[in-house]
Amino acid sequence: SLREGSGGPQRGRRGGRELPRGAWLLITFWLLMFSALAVYFSLIQLSPLPWPYLRPPAPPRPVTVLMWWEPFVGKGRSHRPVPDCQRLFNLSGSAPELARPPGQRWVWMNFESPTNSPRLESLDGSLFNWTLSYRADSDIFVPYGYLYPRSSPQDQPSGLYPSLARKQGLVAWVVSHWSERQARVRYYHELRQYLKVDVYGQGGPGQPVPDSGLLHTVARYKFYLAFENSQHLDYITEKLWRNAFLAGAVPVVLGPSRANYERFVPRNAFIHVDDFPNVAALASYLRFLDRNRNQYKRYFDWRRRYAVHILSFWDEPWCRTCQALQIAGDQPKKMNNLAAWFQR
Ligand SMILES: *[C@@H]1O[C@H](CO)[C@@H](O)[C@H](O)[C@H]1NC(C)=O
Ligand SMILES: *[C@@H]1O[C@H](CO)[C@@H](O)[C@H](O)[C@H]1NC(C)=O
Repeated sequence: SLREGSGGPQRGRRGGRELPRGAWLLITFWLLMFSALAVYFSLIQLSPLPWPYLRPPAPPRPVTVLMWWEPFVGKGRSHRPVPDCQRLFNLSGSAPELARPPGQRWVWMNFESPTNSPRLESLDGSLFNWTLSYRADSDIFVPYGYLYPRSSPQDQPSGLYPSLARKQGLVAWVVSHWSERQARVRYYHELRQYLKVDVYGQGGPGQPVPDSGLLHTVARYKFYLAFENSQHLDYITEKLWRNAFLAGAVPVVLGPSRANYERFVPRNAFIHVDDFPNVAALASYLRFLDRNRNQYKRYFDWRRRYAVHILSFWDEPWCRTCQALQIAGDQPKKMNNLAAWFQR
């Protein structure tokens, strides 16, 4: 009787008044649909903004955005402040600070000279760990060019010497940023009183570089004025490596000291303006070489043993950084006197 008594109500619950399972599913489905539609319409009423702005994916996860402004930060500003996204848009986890993994290295890369690298002091204070520049004492030394030994010295120098028959002109100069305050412009004004100097490029008295290109143009001259825009330690740019060496013109250099050049190129590969007491003496030496073919050709002897490498932007700085990281130990390093180091 006990089993019967307990069995009775069970059977009664299974009775016909209960809704079938399919109906429950249908009701749940429509309830969900209505609430979804209600939320949707209330939101599009609030704001026409698309979904991601209204409801950022929760929970917020920390992200790092690297904004690289220098040196294009704008006039009169040392840096752009990081905006306070919490206050502006109620975005949590966006505290304006630079959380920086201790093992991460920040590399300051620069190919301009100190004269053209303003406001460096704002980067002091141990912001960077390493430097990458043309300066030989950079952590990652990436020069504008370098000479590397040929695998076998060339005994047939014919290919190394330029065709003198093609060299109709004496002195060429290509300049794009013309400023009367630059030492190179002052030197040019004096030099052209003694010699004809053919100037190419925009911004100054130059004629446009012909369609045949810079190298073909310079190749038609015996000498090229590899004058740097400013004079600084190790600041020896494509004006020497590319415009003069690749084109096969003898460079007349105005830049750092002769000793500094000789760290990177043989002494008989170039003529330095400091080799002469005055501009007139340089001019007469160039005229002497113009008349003495064998003396002139001695400026190409180094090519038997060395070939020229030209810096390739920006893959080379990138790959050199990769290489430096591969060989670096764990020793931490920081640069707390960037400006003083670079400007010395
Ligand atoms: C800001 O966001 C938090 C968390 O997302 C929320 O609880 C709070 O109501 C929001 N405040 C305003 C003013 O919208
Ligand atoms: C990089 O510099 C930062 C800031 O000076 C310093 O805290 C960190 O230890 C340095 N990291 C390395 C790997 O040198």
